[in-house]
Formats: sequence, structure tokens, C-alpha cells
Amino acid sequence: MAKKKILVTGGAGYIGSHACVELLQADYDIVVVDNLSNSKTESLARVQNITGKALGFYQADIRDRTALTEIFAKEVIDTVIHFAGLKAVGESCAKPDLYYHNNVYGTLVLTEAMQAAGVKELVFSSSATVYGESTSPQYAEDFPLGAINPYGRSKAMIEDILRDLSAADAINHESRPWKIALLRYFNPIGAHESGLIGEDPNGIPNNLMPYVSQVAIGKLVQLSVFGNDYPTPDGTGIRDYIHVVDLVKGHIKAIEALDGDGFAAGGCRPYNLGTGQGYSVLEIVDAFERVTGRPINYKIVGRRAGDLAECFANPDRALQELGWRAEKNLDDMVADTWNWQSKNPQGFA
Ligand code: NAD
Ligand code: WQD
Repeated sequence: MAKKKILVTGGAGYIGSHACVELLQADYDIVVVDNLSNSKTESLARVQNITGKALGFYQADIRDRTALTEIFAKEVIDTVIHFAGLKAVGESCAKPDLYYHNNVYGTLVLTEAMQAAGVKELVFSSSATVYGESTSPQYAEDFPLGAINPYGRSKAMIEDILRDLSAADAINHESRPWKIALLRYFNPIGAHESGLIGEDPNGIPNNLMPYVSQVAIGKLVQLSVFGNDYPTPDGTGIRDYIHVVDLVKGHIKAIEALDGDGFAAGGCRPYNLGTGQGYSVLEIVDAFERVTGRPINYKIVGRRAGDLAECFANPDRALQELGWRAEKNLDDMVADTWNWQSKNPQGFA
């Protein structure tokens, strides 16, 4: 059977570009839709260099109904992987309307265009940020939801919309039901082992790993460690960092699962994509110094508002139902981050 054709929204971005590499290497045909609001076409040129394969590209906004309708009319798409979205928590607090418009309305336009074209297989980039307060730091998919900022709520709203679309199939006696995997990412870091693609944040990074690597290369002077008075062994926050290549492999497993028995009658189901192992901020700093041989200048400052002490995945469902588990360790994540950063000190510029 010929491999499917996958439409990848946000495919020029950090995670999307890594997904494009894995998809092409697995012999899928791919078409990328990206408005380049947070990426450059250079990432896609490099995806084609790494794989020696071509992909289709449309510079378009997912909120542009006419553009999406034309793309679905022109391309025979089987499945959509939906990465396109804005993702900066701080910016989402300052511009909530922008985040709801881009992420939530954008997804509605996309699902309407999909439905009109008869494309009903979707893999969605959700986030561990949809989870609410919990007594355990190890989050399973059935834990209560309760995002605490507009970015997180935009993801939670999209999950609700997708669950409702799927539930409506039974009421409407749909012969071809929606098949939707909601992939809740923990903390993606690292880069492709070639060092040709990686994370290229605009301005000063918000996230730990890009900040640390920019301190290591001398672009930034000092890391601020946000709090060392958390109830964790060294007092700093613990997260589940996952190598971006492991993460995107989970998407290929999800595409395959949508064709399997578990989704035979359709459905919309969440899966955690994490390693199940947490590391503290200071453990990340230590690993970076050990693997790269570079000193990381840091100081301890106050806690960042909204941060949890500890958060890591229970990844059992993804293993049982998708046959996926993360394979790379923290040293791989650090080495590949540094390989990308040191070969591309200005990112894709
Ligand atoms: P990214 O910003 O590098 O990639 C997102 C891409 O989507 C960019 O290329 C951007 O230009 C594009 N885009 C944004 N809005 C668009 C629109 N309206 N129309 C068309 N294209 C649009 O981010 P990323 O880190 O690769 O994240 C990909 C997805 O994964 C996002 O939805 C993000 O919310 C989600 N996610 C990311 C993380 C993380 O830590 N990186 C964690 C959990 C979830
Ligand atoms: C990790 C740890 C910080 C920066 C965020 C989003 C989340 C998701 C992933 C998309 C924490 C500490 C950080 C710094 C620090 N994105 N830190 N100094 O907060 O777990 O998750 O990115 O869905 O929605 O909230 O990741 O990398 O920002 O922080 O000490 O300069 O590093 O306090 O303990 P976070 P992060």
C-alpha cells in the first residue's frame, strides 16, 4: 500500500521541521503549510538536504479559509499533523486575543477545511500545560485538566473542540468518523544529530535549554535559575525533558495507530509524550557543563510566577497503545543541542 500523504501545519518550525525529516525518511509524502510567523524557509531547505527528498510547501496562514480550501482541493491529503500555533506563555498573557485567534480559531478553520475535504485523521500538538493542579508530580492522561495561562487554555480549548467533534460523529451516524490523537508534549529539547536543524528562538529565550546553550556560546551572560526553595532534592524545578527526535517519532507511531484497531470506530484520545524521568534545573546545568566542557554562569533568583515545583509524564499509555517510548537520554539531548548551537550561533539567519 502506498504511504499516506501528510499535511504538516507549522512544519517550518522547531518540532515541525524535525517531524518532516522523520516523515520523509519513513517514505511519507508531505505538504507543509506555514505562515513563517516564527520560522524561516531555510529550515525546510535543510530538511530536504538531510533527507535528499522533496516536500511541498505553501506559505499560508491556517486562518485563511480560502487558502486552506485551495490546498485541500489541490493535494490529496490523508492525515494532518497540526503543529501551527503560537507558544510563548508570557506573550499569551499580554495578548490573549492573539493566542485564541491564532490557535483556537486557526484550528477551527483547519478542521472545517478538513471536514469539507473528507480528511478526518488528525494528530494535534497539545501540551502538558493543559494539566491542572495535582497531588502527584507524575501526570497521567486521566488527571484533571486546568491550564493557568491563555496559551495553555488555548490548547485545552482546542482539545475540547476536537473531543466534541469526535463525539458528534456518533450522534450524526458518520460512516467515516474523526480519528484524533492529542499528543501532550512535556519539555522538548535537543536537535537533529546532523546539527542542520534545531530550535531558533526569536530574541531572548523563555525556555531553559535554549537559554543555557546561549550562555554557553557567549550570546547571553548569565542564566537566572528561577528559585531554589522548591520541595525538590536540590530545591530547583524538575521537568521531563524529551529529545525532539524521540518526540516526532511519537507522531509517526500516532499516524500508524489511527489506522489500527484502537481507532477502528474513530475517537479522540490524549497521549503523554515524555520520558517519565524528571531532571532539575541544576542537573541540566551540570549535564551541559559535563557534556560540552563549557562553564555555565548562573545565579539563583526568585521563583517565576506560574511555575510548578515538579512535573513529569506517566508515558505508559503511549507505550501500550502507540508502541512508542523515548529512547534518547539527557546526554544525547545536551550533545545535540550544543552541536546545533555551536554550528549555527545565529540560528537559521
Ligand atoms: P515553532 O514556533 O517553532 O513552530 C510553530 C510553527 O507554526 C512556526 O513555523 C510558525 O511560523 C507556524 N505558525 C504559527 N501560527 C501559524 C498560523 N496561524 N498559520 C500557519 N502557520 C503558523 O514552535 P514548536 O516548538 O515547533 O511548537 C510546535 C507546536 O507544538 C505548537 O503548537 C506548540 O504550541 C506545541 N508545543 C510546543 C512545545 C515546546 O516546548 N516547544 C511544548 C508543547 C507543545
Ligand atoms: C523549565 C524549568 C523553570 C528558564 C514551558 C511552557 C510549557 C511548554 C514548555 C509549550 C523550570 C526553569 C527556565 C530560565 C530557569 N511549552 N528556568 N531559568 O516552564 O516547564 O514549560 O515550555 O507547550 O507550556 O510553560 O519550561 O524551559 O521554561 O522551564 O530556571 O531562564 O527551568 O523555572 O523549572 P516549562 P521552561
